[in-house]
Amino acid sequence: MSQLLHFDDETALATALAQALGWPCACIERHLFPDGETRLRLPPALPPDVVILRGLQHPNAKLTELLLAAAGARELGARQITLVSPYLAYMRQDMAFTPGEVVSQRHLGALLAAAFDAVVTIDPHLHRVATMDDVVPGKRGVALTAAPLLGAHVAAHVPGALLLAPDEEAGQWVRTAALAHGLDHAVCHKLRRGDRDVQVALPDTSVAGRAVVLLDDVASTGRTLVAAAIGALLRGAASVDVVVTHGLFVGDAFAQVKGAGVRNVWSSDSVPHASNVVSVVPLLAAALWGSAEPVQPR
Ligand code: R5P
Repeated sequence: MSQLLHFDDETALATALAQALGWPCACIERHLFPDGETRLRLPPALPPDVVILRGLQHPNAKLTELLLAAAGARELGARQITLVSPYLAYMRQDMAFTPGEVVSQRHLGALLAAAFDAVVTIDPHLHRVATMDDVVPGKRGVALTAAPLLGAHVAAHVPGALLLAPDEEAGQWVRTAALAHGLDHAVCHKLRRGDRDVQVALPDTSVAGRAVVLLDDVASTGRTLVAAAIGALLRGAASVDVVVTHGLFVGDAFAQVKGAGVRNVWSSDSVPHASNVVSVVPLLAAALWGSAEPVQPR
């Protein structure tokens, strides 16, 4: 049996996951020294198989302690350490877009590969890199998708919805969700000029009178969703709802999305947020059991 370790700000997800798996679960104790360093304390005797749950939203503050926790776990008996990072940061910086830029994805992947034997995540933003195995060279990388779960939520709450991907990259998740639940789908074209400067061109598909649901992997500043929602409403959509795997919603993002006329904003609990309605626990539990089918929490 494996041991699940987590940090105090992810207790809800960790407890639900451990319950689903029937595994023991322990919180990694943290003490923050006045100078900004952290002292970690793990259970003193660990089994050979250890899983550390750590979502990497706000990654810079978390990475040092995560790497320390993994190294400490090995000293305390762990032989096989899996990182479960429902949201994996730095996946978008996958090439040097201008000379001199650090390719963060590659280097973060190398750091994780050195610390962990496997990395499991959900809907990583892989673009120029094909698989999670390529992200963590020499180690096992697993990319799960929450798209069918998001699609199920949409099908239950917006019958006959038109699923709209706000950009080409989201097309893969929209297609998966639509196929799994017999929904119509279409894909927009996005032009990003800056962090908060985004233009979205709608596809030719008619949205007039349709209940449109925008589906994306991540909402960060929310500007992608805002642009797509405004476009759909201008073209006569009857309603616009939003569903995302990772609701980062930084700063005023959530208010901006609601202010654009979006009726409901839904997200999975991969990142804790008030919009969480879809649980990723069955997805993660199935992956950790090595099963192909999602399992129900016990
Ligand atoms: C990028 O292409 C992703 O799929 C999202 O569309 C993007 O990260 C959302 O970012 P923001 O909320 O800042 O527009």
